[in-house]
Amino acid sequence: MPEIKVAIIGGTGVYNQSLLSDALEILVDTPYGSVSMMECDYKELKVYFLARHGGGHSVPPHKVNYKANIAALKKVGVETVISTAAVGSLNETMPPGSMVVIDQFIDLTKQRSLTFFEGDRGLVVHTDFTDPYCPEVRKTILTAGSKIKQDLVDGGCYVCTEGPRFETPAEIKMMKQWGGDLVGMTNVPEVVLAREAGLCYSTIALSTNYAAGISGEPLTHREVLEIMDQVKPDLDQLLTASLEHIKSEPKCSCKEAGQYWPKGS
Ligand code: HPA
Repeated sequence: MPEIKVAIIGGTGVYNQSLLSDALEILVDTPYGSVSMMECDYKELKVYFLARHGGGHSVPPHKVNYKANIAALKKVGVETVISTAAVGSLNETMPPGSMVVIDQFIDLTKQRSLTFFEGDRGLVVHTDFTDPYCPEVRKTILTAGSKIKQDLVDGGCYVCTEGPRFETPAEIKMMKQWGGDLVGMTNVPEVVLAREAGLCYSTIALSTNYAAGISGEPLTHREVLEIMDQVKPDLDQLLTASLEHIKSEPKCSCKEAGQYWPKGS
């Protein structure tokens, strides 16, 4: 059986997966820049860990090289990606501390490079986003969560802002009316590029605070990190349990969605 290659993209507060204590650091060159990631074996899997914001949270959300990250995962042969993302909550059923396996997004970013398909060589591609997150990987995470008795929320709509500032209460009110549940700064274009590249990609959103204007208190990055520290042991456990349930031949449309992704990108 071919080895299954899985990546974890760790967001804010998730830098050093305990899984990866014996991992090697590798540098992967892509046409978009080089990417450093950790590589290790876990049971029959090859696991890669990529810190989205670089070591020590040194790259802000609007400057993350999303294309290089996804291209690097493709280059090493990854097929399945689980990402984590810190979010503010707009929904009282997803209070701080909740882990949400999101199923939709709304894109409010403004100046990011959003696609691998820039019309080069006359190639115009419109990728289907009916299921933005791989339903098989979502199911894998939810199954893993129920096996280890974690209370995960199944589904939620992530609104992605440009950042790096937090939102105004007026923006949050608007997002709520639009059907948003959670707000963050990084899931777009990551999810878009992953699907364009044919990866099975899913995100565990970690609610770290109520969004601006909901609690009445000003927001700080410190409170985000504090809650992340509290949920990290549960998250580590969930990621490890999810790896145990990854399937080798998923029955989803992700691979097909990536049929135009240029090999060698
Ligand atoms: N807004 C945007 N991004 C975030 C938040 C928030 O309230 N909390 C954690 N990441």
